[in-house]
Amino acid sequence: MESVQVIKQRFGIIGNDPKLNRSIEKATRVAPTDISVLVAGESGVGKENIPKIIHSLSQRKHNNYIAVNCGAIPEGTIDSELFGHEKGAFTGATNTRKGYFEVADGGTIFLDEVGELPLTTQVRLLRVLENGEFIKVGSSEVQKTDVRIVAATNVKMVEAIKKGKFREDLYYRLSTVEIELPPLRNRNEDIHLLFRKFASDFAQKYKMPTVRLTDDAVALLIRYHFPGNIRQLRNIAEQISVIEENRNIDALKLKQYLPNLSSSSLPMIIDESNHSFGEEKSSLLKMIYDLRTELNELKKVTLNIMHGSKIKESEAFLETSTTKTLAPSPSINNNNEGLVSFHNNDDDIHQDDDEEYYIETVEEDENLSLQDKEIEMIKKSLERNSNKRKLAAKELGISERTLYRKIKQYNL
Ligand SMILES: Nc1ncnc2c1ncn2[C@@H]1O[C@H](COP(=O)(O)OP(=O)(O)OP(=O)(O)O)[C@@H](O)[C@H]1O
Ligand SMILES: [Mg+2]
Repeated sequence: MESVQVIKQRFGIIGNDPKLNRSIEKATRVAPTDISVLVAGESGVGKENIPKIIHSLSQRKHNNYIAVNCGAIPEGTIDSELFGHEKGAFTGATNTRKGYFEVADGGTIFLDEVGELPLTTQVRLLRVLENGEFIKVGSSEVQKTDVRIVAATNVKMVEAIKKGKFREDLYYRLSTVEIELPPLRNRNEDIHLLFRKFASDFAQKYKMPTVRLTDDAVALLIRYHFPGNIRQLRNIAEQISVIEENRNIDALKLKQYLPNLSSSSLPMIIDESNHSFGEEKSSLLKMIYDLRTELNELKKVTLNIMHGSKIKESEAFLETSTTKTLAPSPSINNNNEGLVSFHNNDDDIHQDDDEEYYIETVEEDENLSLQDKEIEMIKKSLERNSNKRKLAAKELGISERTLYRKIKQYNL
């Protein structure tokens, strides 16, 4: 069996953290079997390396390896993407199409962000896991496939199960072996190592001298909370490498690149001037959205009173929707959060519907300016995050799927 060090070199994995080494070792041990593996860990910790290691050290290595980002595929097409469809199964299905589970027969499928799978897809997935059977969308013929599944998640699955968003039986099937990757903040020894590696990579890429951190900057970097983990560290190293003329970076300079997301994320004096302009603008725009929503609701309530109607708020919203027939979802009734365009309830599978719902109920001129702002926010956020949808979605406080839909909707 290849040693952990050799594998790290092969896959460009930097770091000597004992938990990281243990995870890699676990991956190498489980690789030759067909056991399902669930990779768990915060966003940006390097989960995508694990399925690649598993596939390349397995008997399946000469067959297909397909990585699917379950969170980025719109809910309406995910079954067809995964399991294929028959000609005529739905509007636009002009040909029969093979799904990933058919294409990856004999190989490995990596289901990234598996917690985002709709419940109906979870049922199909459970069947494949149990006996290798699946049915194309629009077909009645049962097909067989032999696929090894590695899944990854950065959401707390136990909570998702409790909320009824993830099937418990599927969770147990997927997580026969669980491999957890540690957050960067717990890998003190690796932080500077990773920074040096990234700084040297970017120096080469941009043909500039390598940036170096002074001792106080290193100390500051190690104390930082890194909510975005290795991905964030890499972005910070890239920004500094490109922007800073003086290649010696001290703590004061470095501080400008570490967003103080919350007081708990950085156990040191908070300097308000450190907020980036982009961040402030985003939160201001979000506030405007929230205010608009409240105003919109108030308008409706007032209108109802004026019309002497005793319809409940939720029904009022349903009535004003003219172009779409949407099933009333419980989140419409409960509070504002389900109605605003930009909110943090990533887990809410009804979220997309609610947003469209809201947008359609506002008056047209408001709608236009809101839309312009929305487009601008999305564009800016994508720019800031080098077109990484996941990061932009996080920054905007919406799910990746919603962002995907909006990018398509506005042709961005
Ligand atoms: N140990 C490492 N050494 C060097 N680079 C790494 C390491 N781990 C991760 N990276 C890099 O960090 C970035 C984020 O890793 P990755 O995409 O695997 O994160 P993730 O855990 O899948 O995050 P998410 O849940 O947000 O999808 C990638 O660019 C990856 O190459
Ligand atoms: Mg990932």
